[in-house]
Amino acid sequence: MQTSLLDPALLSARGKPTLYRALAEQLDALLTGEPDPVANAANAAAAIYHTLPRLNWAGFYFLRDDTLVLGPFQGRPACVRIRLGAGVCGTAARDRRSILVPDVEAFPGHIACDIASRSELVVPLRHGTGKVIGVLDLDSPDLARFDAEDQTGCEALAAIVVRHLAQSVLF
Ligand code: SME
Repeated sequence: MQTSLLDPALLSARGKPTLYRALAEQLDALLTGEPDPVANAANAAAAIYHTLPRLNWAGFYFLRDDTLVLGPFQGRPACVRIRLGAGVCGTAARDRRSILVPDVEAFPGHIACDIASRSELVVPLRHGTGKVIGVLDLDSPDLARFDAEDQTGCEALAAIVVRHLAQSVLF
């Protein structure tokens, strides 16, 4: 089966809110009916990576005790374990908030998994109970790639992923 992806160029031309709305709809459809969390996180990472322009990494870390452990992603191999509070991912998970990093070199403690990464957006995966179960991490080779519209759009994507993952036995 071939899942057709959205045409990012076409959608980008209509503005980010349109792009994120279309991606959110596609993501919801892609994950509906599949209870396996690994399959769903893998397809979510692939859909995000191939739809949002100018990314070199997109994927998930899941919280296991006090450590974020690498989950499904697209991009170069990445660091496997990140302590809560470390780097951008660990800080976003600990503080339960999204973090926009326009220039990774200016973020103290940034963990460089791919030297091509210049800017980053990390969104916590928040369960309805308030519990953080992990993070969605996007990296770009361009400085200041992400803005407030990307943050809002990715927070909506993260909520869809959590809703589907929360039905699985892992979380
Ligand atoms: N840069 C992240 C680490 C994860 S990689 O970018 C995939 C951080 O500082 O937490």
